[in-house]
Amino acid sequence: MKSTTDFSKMKVAGEKISMLTAYDFPTAQIAEQAGVDVLLVGDSLGMVVLGYDSTALVTLEEMIHHGKAVRRGAKETFVIVDMPFGTYHGSEDTTLQHALRLFQETAANALKVEGSGAVVDKINLLTSAGIPVCGHLGLLPQSAGVTGGYRVQGKTAAAAKQLIEDAKACEAAGAFMIVLECIPFQLAKEVAQAVSIPIIGIGAGADTDGQVLVFHDMVRYGNHKLPKFVESYADVGKDIEGAMKLYNMAVKEGAFPSESHRFTMKEEELDALYG
Ligand code: KIV
Ligand code: NA
Repeated sequence: MKSTTDFSKMKVAGEKISMLTAYDFPTAQIAEQAGVDVLLVGDSLGMVVLGYDSTALVTLEEMIHHGKAVRRGAKETFVIVDMPFGTYHGSEDTTLQHALRLFQETAANALKVEGSGAVVDKINLLTSAGIPVCGHLGLLPQSAGVTGGYRVQGKTAAAAKQLIEDAKACEAAGAFMIVLECIPFQLAKEVAQAVSIPIIGIGAGADTDGQVLVFHDMVRYGNHKLPKFVESYADVGKDIEGAMKLYNMAVKEGAFPSESHRFTMKEEELDALYG
């Protein structure tokens, strides 16, 4: 199992960190087998697995439910779980209660929170309580309703300057890593140089310390539209549909099950049964 120190060392060594989202047991098992460095139980769960229109609808219970499954599947992989919308914007007490539940019940290695400003104080609060925290800057899906939807962030000099300051503030508050979503590659490079903690990019170019993608995008699982920054390495949605069509046909034609799939009762038992 890698540690937060290992990720810092990887940054210094220029060794890229691979992160991928996971929401269930088999995917976590496969990701661990594949050698992925970090698994993120993202609140993208709401959209790609649960069919919600927004990540803001995801509950703490849902994150715990899926976080536990991922931990069971990947016992040797560093797991980060997203704190869902609304669970870290209240008082320090309620924030800490939610964070402790999520951290302990999922046995995660770290939690992730979106944003800067007041959220930086929450990063400080959680790290002071002993919970490793990953920040998340740039496009913030949980705040999309306020910021005007899913679009590239930090495109102006002023916005870029602010984002660099926010990254420094997250680092100063104790964050061990930051996810940077959907910003110009030049700015992502600048941020990665401005802080000593690893910067993991998504839609942020190649000059970050690592990359993260949503699993369902990466393998094309589901009918959702893929953002420009995604690369798909498989088309499992098509494969699954093909398999389902074959199964459906085989059942209807009587081709499945065959003799090889059935169980047999002995002749003498049949005789006894029918007298
Ligand atoms: O929820 C998620 O999947 C995320 C990644 C996009 C970083 O936060
Ligand atoms: Na998220």
